[in-house]
Amino acid sequence: MVETPASSNTNGNSVMSPPNSINFLQTLPKKELFQLGFIGIATLNSLFLNTIIGLFPYIPIPVIKFFVSSLYCGGENFKEVIECGERLQKRGISNMMLSLTIENSEGTKSLTGASVDHIVQETISSVHNILLPNIINQLESKPVNDIAPGYIALKPSALVDNPHEVLYNFSNPAFKAQRDQLIDNCSKITKVVFELNQALLEKYPGRKAPFLVSTIDAEKYDLQENGVYELQRILFQKFNPVSSRLISCIGTWQLYLRDSGDHLLHELKLAQVNGYRLGLKLVRGAYIHSEKDRNQIIFGEKTDTDENYDRVITQVVNDLIINGVRLLLWSLGRRLS
Ligand SMILES: *[C@@H]1O[C@H](CO)[C@@H](O)[C@H](O)[C@H]1NC(C)=O
Ligand SMILES: *[C@@H]1O[C@H](CO)[C@@H](O)[C@H](O)[C@H]1NC(C)=O
Repeated sequence: MVETPASSNTNGNSVMSPPNSINFLQTLPKKELFQLGFIGIATLNSLFLNTIIGLFPYIPIPVIKFFVSSLYCGGENFKEVIECGERLQKRGISNMMLSLTIENSEGTKSLTGASVDHIVQETISSVHNILLPNIINQLESKPVNDIAPGYIALKPSALVDNPHEVLYNFSNPAFKAQRDQLIDNCSKITKVVFELNQALLEKYPGRKAPFLVSTIDAEKYDLQENGVYELQRILFQKFNPVSSRLISCIGTWQLYLRDSGDHLLHELKLAQVNGYRLGLKLVRGAYIHSEKDRNQIIFGEKTDTDENYDRVITQVVNDLIINGVRLLLWSLGRRLS
């Protein structure tokens, strides 16, 4: 087997030069190469891509599964996802983020109370049956601070009925009952993470970063402004008190938003005043195609987003040194500049 730079260094936290792509491809099984080749052809140009997207509804599920499933899905049951985690560890990737990808910010899918409860139960069960064994196995075999935390992503719009209405009217007293349902559902999952962090810390007291983290995903701008930021603050207050050594909850900030820098400064002040720690997942941004007032709210140029990202990261790292903010940098795609 050819070693890639990533696999020769098992410390997932260190800065590495990009792996040699030829060496990397040589380590992949034939089936995966075939799948990647297929995706490469399917995305060759917009004509190909649009044709294939158009055909999608007519392609039988087993065919789709054969071509792409294993590239995008960790597995269909706990055992398969844990095995996928082990394969990734061999490539030098120690962290894992689980996401039950159900979202409903348009409020168009009817998630009934029962299905929201099901999402909550399944998410908690994934924490116990995947994320926890995935990190414990590594804690037993590597230095405790060499392993990245395990993340569980919570999509606010999948954790309450009529999410658009509830998030949009989050501060309206008439929506208090639904607001509380959303907070309770997020809290139920994050509490499990919080308690596991405390228990693991007793067993591995030398650990500096959290073992597990509940990650509030971003929604579109209006829902973010009206509801999600406030939801995050409520969860930080409950699960990231300064009295606790590890944080258990992080929120997401999309740095392609023009006001994101000011926003974060404001959040930092609130955290200091109210005695909790901010957990930040900083992303460049994700809803560019569906954000309706994007000309006003999103930076006009990619370079502006990059500058904002660099500025915020610098500021956060300074604060990290001064105030102990916890940081996760999340980047989709490599930087182009
Ligand atoms: C979670 O949300 C659902 C749907 O809004 C609701 O029926 C349920 O009561 C909530 N759970 C809690 C613990 O509030
Ligand atoms: C709640 O939010 C919706 C948007 O989903 C909006 O149309 C509606 O007017 C709001 N309701 C109230 C009572 O403010």
